[in-house]
Formats: sequence, structure tokens, C-alpha cells
Amino acid sequence: MTLFNILLAIHVLSVVWWIGGVATVTASLLPIFNRLPAGERIQWIKRFENRFAHQARVAVVLAGITGFWMYALLPGAITHAWWIGLMLLVWFLFVVMLFVAEPLRLPAKIGLIQKPRAFLLLHAALLTLALAAIFCGVIGARGGF
Ligand code: HEM
Repeated sequence: MTLFNILLAIHVLSVVWWIGGVATVTASLLPIFNRLPAGERIQWIKRFENRFAHQARVAVVLAGITGFWMYALLPGAITHAWWIGLMLLVWFLFVVMLFVAEPLRLPAKIGLIQKPRAFLLLHAALLTLALAAIFCGVIGARGGF
């Protein structure tokens, strides 16, 4: 078992916890919440957010530390691969959302959270991008591209 193997395992576990949560909220919870009266809907979204946001932050930090560490251990040809760039893009978007937009309550301030369809679409777009990063990362890591 090498250091790289351990970093990769922690990286993948962090991604599973974090993107699994994003998939649950997008495909199951938001469609249920969107059927509730407006006030109740916002309350349930906030309840879920209060529980999951801290977990997602820890997972994003762990995925970042392990990702950059593996990046430093790998030869140049792999670190310049486009699918690593896709992972970086997804990571950066979630860092901005979880560490800047959410603590400043920007989604509520710009009225996004009050728009059920737009809020669901934003989550669906982020989930799609994250799934694409996983799909391409797994194939790319095996020299598939
Ligand atoms: C700071 C951001 C990130 C960096 C620097 C990074 C870097 C890396 C590196 C260097 C590897 C190892 C590739 C190899 O074995 O050749 C890897 C693997 C992986 N990464 Fe990331 N990553 C980041 C974020 C993400 C994100 C956001 C996702 C998914 C949404 C992701 C999903 C994966 C997966 C699934 C693998 C495993 C590939 C496999 O061996 O099957 N990573 N990442």
C-alpha cells in the first residue's frame, strides 16, 4: 500500500460522501420539498443545509488536499490531462458555493432559493458536471483518453 493509494482512497471516499449528498438533495429531496407550501419548503431546505453543509465542507477540503497531493506525486503528462482540469473546475465551483456564497446567504439574498425550478436546475447542473468529472476521471486515470 503506497502513499498514493491511501490518498486516492481518501479522495474517492470524500467524493462519494459529498457528491452522493448532492445527488440525494437533487434527485430526491428537492422534488419532495418543491411540493410543500413556500414557507415550509424553505424551512426544510434550511434544515437539510444546516446538517449537510458542514459535512460537504469537510469532504471538499479532504478531496482538495488529497487531490493536490496526488497531483504533486504524479508525472507531468497526467497532471496536464483535461479530465484533471474538469475535477479542478468542479472543486472550485463547490468551494465558491460552500465557503463564499452560502455563508454570505447569497442564494437567499438574490432570491434564488425562493424559485423552486431555478434552484433545482442549479443543483442538477452542478450534479451533472460532478458526475462527468467522476466518469471522465475513472476512464482517464486508466489511460482511456
Ligand atoms: C482540487 C481538486 C482535485 C484535484 C487536484 C484532483 C486530482 C486527482 C488526481 C491527481 C487523481 C489521481 C489520478 C490518477 O490516478 O492518475 C484523482 C482521482 C480521482 N478524482 Fe480527483 N481531483 C480533484 C477533485 C475531484 C472532484 C471534484 C471529483 C469528482 C467530482 C474527483 C473525482 C476523482 C475520482 C473519481 C478519481 C479516481 C480515478 C480512478 O483512479 O479511478 N476529483 N483526482
